[in-house]
Amino acid sequence: MLVLAIETSCDETAAAVVRDGRTILSNVVSSQVKDHAVYGGVVPEIASRKHLETIPAVVGEALRLADVTLDHVEGVAVTQGPGLAGALLVGLSVAKSIAFARGLPLAGVNHIEAHLAAIFLEREVAYPYLALVVSGGHSHLYRVDGIGRCTTLGQTLDDAAGEAFDKVAKLLGLPYPGGIEIDRLASAGDPDAIAFPRPLLHDGSFNFSFSGLKTAVLSAVKKQGIPEGEKLADFCASFQKAVCHVLVEKTFRAADATGIDRVVVAGGVACNSALRREMAHAAAARGVELMIPSPSLCGDNAAMIAVPGDYYLRCGEQGGLALDARVNWPL
Ligand code: KG4
Ligand code: ZN
Repeated sequence: MLVLAIETSCDETAAAVVRDGRTILSNVVSSQVKDHAVYGGVVPEIASRKHLETIPAVVGEALRLADVTLDHVEGVAVTQGPGLAGALLVGLSVAKSIAFARGLPLAGVNHIEAHLAAIFLEREVAYPYLALVVSGGHSHLYRVDGIGRCTTLGQTLDDAAGEAFDKVAKLLGLPYPGGIEIDRLASAGDPDAIAFPRPLLHDGSFNFSFSGLKTAVLSAVKKQGIPEGEKLADFCASFQKAVCHVLVEKTFRAADATGIDRVVVAGGVACNSALRREMAHAAAARGVELMIPSPSLCGDNAAMIAVPGDYYLRCGEQGGLALDARVNWPL
């Protein structure tokens, strides 16, 4: 089935054409980062307006790059939530219009489910697997038994991992979005220079908490001022190590506890070079199979929406024209 997928849950306007939920024919992502950077974070009203301005060209480009027209498309998949209400509504309206005008089936997709299924665009994965989804809005650990069959093992009790990266970057005076900037600076730093706390590391649960770590960073900055040069690199590397340590430990403890020896890491923070490296070390040491999508499929994109989308369209589980945005939509 040839699916046109649309994603507008946050600050990326994205459209993709995917065959059978597996083969990417095109995957166009137009980032609004520059429009939000001046405010130090995503401004929901600006996000909606930018989606509205950009989406016709993004959908057109996705069709053009795939070398197809709407005549070839057999189904439409769209992010229904979770995300920013106004931003989601833009994608939903466009998807509904196309589906209505062309008489196509339409499926609403959960953005988090799409993140943890993105790996199928690069390889098959046997069920069950454990999935750590770490993004700007989520830090969740799931047991995945199939599409639509996810069990939450743990989640953040406060900030998401990406949110912690972005807030700490802001405290350090780094540009938005901060995660990628901390990753870049950390590559020249000593990760053992500062012993930042590892929240909830030994609490026996699979939950996370990053706000205490953010407070530790804030008090360090208050005491010594914003570090510069080598000290800034050490600071970033030490903070990054603290976040990665907790994510890696909890994920592999969940693998031990459940006996599941397949782990998928997904979401924007899965682009982090230290997390990829530390996950790979831990997986090799424990004989666990680790799968992390290529960075372009970890961050927000529309191709990943087509993976569960294709499945739901085939099952006939379609929201159709009655689909409404689900701002909060736990898996
Ligand atoms: O999945 P995503 O693109 O959007 C959401 O659904 O939230 O994730 C965005 C998050 C941001 O917080 C960003 O700072 C973080 O992913 N991020 C990174 C890196 N690249 C993106 N965090 C750490 N290191 C990176 N290299
Ligand atoms: Zn996302």
